[in-house]
Amino acid sequence: MSATSIPPGVDPGLVPQRTLYTGARMPAIGLGTFGSDRVPAEEVAAAVKDAAALGYRHFDCASVYANEDRIGLSFREILRSGIRREELWITSKLWNDKHGEDDVIPSCRKSLEDLRLDYLDMYLIHWPFPNFHPPGCDVTSRSGDARPYIHENYMKTWRQVERLVDMGLARHIGTSNMTIPKLQLLLRDARIKPAVNEMEMHPHMQQRELFDFLRANGIEPIAYSPIGSPGRPARDRTPEDTVDIEDPVIVEIARRLGVHPAVVCVKWACQAGATPIPFSASRRNYLANLQGVVSPPLTSEDMRAIAGIDRNCRLIKGQVFLWKPGQSWEDLWDLDGVIKQ
Ligand SMILES: NC(=O)c1ccc[n+]([C@@H]2O[C@H](COP(=O)([O-])OP(=O)(O)OC[C@H]3O[C@@H](n4cnc5c(N)ncnc54)[C@H](OP(=O)(O)O)[C@@H]3O)[C@@H](O)[C@H]2O)c1
Repeated sequence: MSATSIPPGVDPGLVPQRTLYTGARMPAIGLGTFGSDRVPAEEVAAAVKDAAALGYRHFDCASVYANEDRIGLSFREILRSGIRREELWITSKLWNDKHGEDDVIPSCRKSLEDLRLDYLDMYLIHWPFPNFHPPGCDVTSRSGDARPYIHENYMKTWRQVERLVDMGLARHIGTSNMTIPKLQLLLRDARIKPAVNEMEMHPHMQQRELFDFLRANGIEPIAYSPIGSPGRPARDRTPEDTVDIEDPVIVEIARRLGVHPAVVCVKWACQAGATPIPFSASRRNYLANLQGVVSPPLTSEDMRAIAGIDRNCRLIKGQVFLWKPGQSWEDLWDLDGVIKQ
């Protein structure tokens, strides 16, 4: 093979890994697969297949992204190409309308069937609220049977998620969009504790306290929307939102390194100890993100400068999960350390 015909890409052996409390190793960058209601399933699936050829081994899926059946075709091809199942790290998530005790196992089985897999590496409860809302709905949409977080109910769901491990359908289980008070209850009551927690994390939303809590409890933080989700749906935008990739500190570091500001955000999350899962459907961009985590690290001065631009700017606020009139999205996030009822 001539030098010019070698495909671009990154040796997966060079990608940093996180060791979970079980001893399993998870690649410290994954490809997000939420098309934000604008990138069609076929395009996301094509990106998954190509990203694997370029060295990605970790993929963040969810039933609600409505593309698992397409992504499953890509996984089938990836496995046929000679990449072994054990080399991949595949996550899926239980959607909010499937928290019922009888719904959890069938829901996981459906994701497995769609993804053409025998087991998942990680299965998460996507949100701590069982509140259904239709896909693509408006930010003002509220479900008639919306409920606050009720720990007893969450534990009933968690018991079923634990059974998935016993059954061999999921190797690990975890949480997403949790807060410290909710996690404290779960850690008290779980038979199998969560191995990861997915959380919004980007330079303008660093969530240091939650990050430190997770680390102190042996839970790996997965950073979602690590670039500040510039392509997120209109329903997830408010006038107060700030833009990480336009922040002068990020822009200046990117200029010096000759990369897009998005790559600086991904590098920062990984170097800070999280596992970023940036979405991209563009080869140039998902390749640049992967290269970003294997290239020379940001300087300690860069890391200090980025630590200084946190704005506590939550982008994925979750308004559709509110359960009574007159509430604001802050009520979902237990800001004063108490679970709102
Ligand atoms: N657990 C949860 O509740 C939850 C919530 C939100 C997200 N997530 C997960 O996290 C993943 C990522 O979050 P996200 O999709 O909200 O946002 P994100 O990863 O912060 O941003 C994705 C956007 O950045 C652009 N981008 C990516 N790399 C780039 C680069 N190198 N240069 C320039 N632009 C670049 C992409 O455009 P192009 O496609 O044009 O590259 C896309 O519009 C999701 O896909 C999903 O898997 C989970």
